[in-house]
Amino acid sequence: MGQERHPAAVIINGDLALNDGQAGDYEHFAKLIAPLRDADIPVHLTLGNHDNRDVFYKVMKLGRPAEPPVVSKHLSVIPLAKVNLFLLDSLKGTNVAQGLLGNEQLAWLGRMLDKHPEKPALIFAHHNPRLAGDEKYFDGGLEDSNPLWDFLETRTQVKAYVHGHIHDRRYYRHRDIHIIDTPATSFVLRNAETTTGWTMAQLSDRGGEFTTLTHLKQHAWSGAVRKLMWRPA
Ligand SMILES: [Fe+2]
Repeated sequence: MGQERHPAAVIINGDLALNDGQAGDYEHFAKLIAPLRDADIPVHLTLGNHDNRDVFYKVMKLGRPAEPPVVSKHLSVIPLAKVNLFLLDSLKGTNVAQGLLGNEQLAWLGRMLDKHPEKPALIFAHHNPRLAGDEKYFDGGLEDSNPLWDFLETRTQVKAYVHGHIHDRRYYRHRDIHIIDTPATSFVLRNAETTTGWTMAQLSDRGGEFTTLTHLKQHAWSGAVRKLMWRPA
């Protein structure tokens, strides 16, 4: 990775497969992330609209919790030194652009957040929220964005929501919760404006610094830094 320090965690935020979640996609994906695992860097995955949950679990057996908290959904809480990360499963159906969390998962998230009020919480899911903070939000985003936001707003430890799906790099905000749209890692959707890369986050109890790293070194996004302050607890 060309970095001196290893990250505390790597999150790959959905669409692990190219189109419709074939076994070969996940076999290839497992090979691609093997160097991270070999370097003892914890890798955490969410699922997107191009994934197939059953095929994913079959191929990536090690990634599945023995007793998933919500049946057929892939969810986890990752406690880090300064923040807690909450990973959600917004896969509604393979090759269905829209995402959905569902009432059961929302209830799980509420319970988990109430158990972990002490540190700033960052929420990760593949789909973009469909909210007014994003003036031109993509309709193929999260169908239950409003119910999600209603209870994220009242749990003031929640500071940010991180998504993919759009293949873009954008920062916006809805009701004081930051929304971080991270670029895709391996698929360029609109050649003229966007590119592939990854986002490095340095997180503290007061805010976060997000650096975009791109495969194309001359791209305008290369090395771009965004500093965010968290809302008060
Ligand atoms: Fe997607």
